[in-house]
Amino acid sequence: MGPETVGGGAGAADAADGAVDLRALYDASGAREILEQLDRELVGLVPVKRRIREISSLLLVERARREVGLSHEAPTLHMSFTGNPGTGKTTVAHRMADLLHRLGYIRRGQLVSVTRDDLVGQYIGHTAPKTKEILKKAMGGVLFIDEAYYLYRSENERDYGQESIEILLQVMENQREDLVVILAGYADRMDHFFSANPGFRSRIAHHIEFPDYRDEELISIARTMLERQNYRLSEAAEDALQEYVALRRAQPHFANARSIRNALDRARLRQANRLFQADAGPLNAAELSTLDEADIRASRVFSGGLGGAGREATAAAPADPEAPPDSEAPPDPGAGS
Ligand SMILES: Nc1ncnc2c1ncn2[C@@H]1O[C@H](COP(=O)(O)OP(=O)(O)O)[C@@H](O)[C@H]1O
Ligand SMILES: [Mg+2]
Repeated sequence: MGPETVGGGAGAADAADGAVDLRALYDASGAREILEQLDRELVGLVPVKRRIREISSLLLVERARREVGLSHEAPTLHMSFTGNPGTGKTTVAHRMADLLHRLGYIRRGQLVSVTRDDLVGQYIGHTAPKTKEILKKAMGGVLFIDEAYYLYRSENERDYGQESIEILLQVMENQREDLVVILAGYADRMDHFFSANPGFRSRIAHHIEFPDYRDEELISIARTMLERQNYRLSEAAEDALQEYVALRRAQPHFANARSIRNALDRARLRQANRLFQADAGPLNAAELSTLDEADIRASRVFSGGLGGAGREATAAAPADPEAPPDSEAPPDPGAGS
């Protein structure tokens, strides 16, 4: 019996002596592009990138071992991504799906991102079909469960979440060659979730922690985001953004790179308003693409912040970091006129 070839095993296994060229396997897989892109496009995240390279090596060796007949079991690839909001978990999960696909571990490579509400029904009998429907969509790819701990309610053992958990655990065990589950959320809540659900913990092969970004990293993230949209910060605007970041971090609902993205969205809005209201004749490309100091400094972050009265009522609980616009209300159309 010859060695079994995995995935699109591009002839990296030499049938004659049973040797496998890891480098050739790596090059043929296309994993290199993903890893290089990850390095290039994502600012910081050094420990995350390191872990992903380690996992890639492990999977490559595992593939080589399969090619020479040393291993037969599908490895467990389920993961947990823990970290605060806006630290890149969802972004990296998409890259991970692509990587696992290229390395031949999942058939299709799509990522299906869900939360409790997608999996758990409101009424008796609704949960199993909902969970199974999602699993069907995710098969052959990655199921990304954001804030996975909401599946479990310790105060209510009759909660329908439990039913979903049981189905998920079974599929994670029995169909692991066809589905990778990534559980994401805050580190402390995930810890608590794993203690209460040891079945999940034992099925997770890789725990990856996403650190908060430092101020300089957030500034570089801002630059990369703007570059992609053909915008730039004037020098004074960049100084203002540095101050913004330091202030914003200390205010409620700070969400790392997402707060930066939101801040830039609003800065572009203000720039557009400024250009339009100035009504100063034809504008060149530089003027159309430069965010100025004023576009940053008009934020409420500079005037006492977002925690003030009137904000509290609309701001979501910290448990729901996706919900709130994480900064000031839109500019009052009547103001300043
Ligand atoms: N390291 C990074 N470099 C560039 N952009 C980033 C980085 N991390 C996150 N972002 C951007 O910030 C936003 C929030 O990231 P996301 O992956 O949704 O975070 P999370 O899932 O942890 O809440 C996205 O627009 C993403 O592209
Ligand atoms: Mg996310």
